[in-house]
Amino acid sequence: MKLSLALTTAALVAGALAAPRSGLARRLEARGILGRRSVPPSKMETLVGENGVLVKSDDGSAEVQYSKNWAGVVREQPPASSATYTQVSATFTVPLPTATDYSGEIQAASAWVGIDGDTYTNAILQTGVDAYVNSNGERAYDAWYEWYPNAAENFAIDLTAGDVIVATVKSTSPSKGVAIIENKSTGRSVTKSMSAPSSSATLGGQNAEWIVEDFNSGSTMVPFANFGQIDFTGARAKTSQGDLGVQNATVLEIEQNGAVLAKVDVKSDSEFTVTYK
Ligand SMILES: *[C@@H]1O[C@H](CO)[C@@H](O)[C@H](O)[C@H]1NC(C)=O
Ligand SMILES: *[C@@H]1O[C@H](CO)[C@@H](O)[C@H](O)[C@H]1NC(C)=O
Repeated sequence: MKLSLALTTAALVAGALAAPRSGLARRLEARGILGRRSVPPSKMETLVGENGVLVKSDDGSAEVQYSKNWAGVVREQPPASSATYTQVSATFTVPLPTATDYSGEIQAASAWVGIDGDTYTNAILQTGVDAYVNSNGERAYDAWYEWYPNAAENFAIDLTAGDVIVATVKSTSPSKGVAIIENKSTGRSVTKSMSAPSSSATLGGQNAEWIVEDFNSGSTMVPFANFGQIDFTGARAKTSQGDLGVQNATVLEIEQNGAVLAKVDVKSDSEFTVTYK
């Protein structure tokens, strides 16, 4: 489904009570030629921090890696060779995006949970939300699911900044999965069952991640919006050997043009924040 179609569907489902579409939502529809897409992290060849040295996360235990597009926490390996990640979830609040680019371009940031895509790059099963803003301060939001390398498709759910959602992905086999977005205030949820897009895009269950992304439209990166701070709580990854959280996992921060744009602070085994710098 194209971005345009998805926004239209969401608007129709929301029905007559929906607020008038913002200019930004209309423009997203008008230019929705290419699908919204998450892609694996594009990492820096050398892992350098602001001082030009490899840095450690705030809890002192995990390595920080830098990428152009992903900030958050990734569990790069399951706890045992026979184990795989079968479910990843977290609670977060839809952010209020602020423009960082005044050239008229639409800017965005995305928050999601997923299985695979970091060290295992054949596939990503993921679900989350996007927040868009333009230089006039017009905003739009959507919730989506994606089985990379396919583009994302939108859930028919009306979102706005401040909504607290629980995002979950589950795999029932390497080629079958489910994405769930739940409204934490109401307990109501939308669910999508998916199949691997091809036999070469099955899940390995090798990575579990909780990410803020500067995502793509087709093969082009959408300019990154200032998303403020996103607090991931209740971050859990299920394996056949038990549940794991975010402590002692790999921290990814976003670096573009030599500047760190998104920093990560791991607060506990189930909570971390991603802050726009
Ligand atoms: C979640 O529920 C609250 C309270 O009813 C509502 O205001 C909000 O719009 C809902 N958000 C979503 C994404 O369903
Ligand atoms: C993280 O590593 C430290 C140091 O090895 C250890 O004490 C702690 O229990 C670990 N935490 C988790 C949740 O695995």
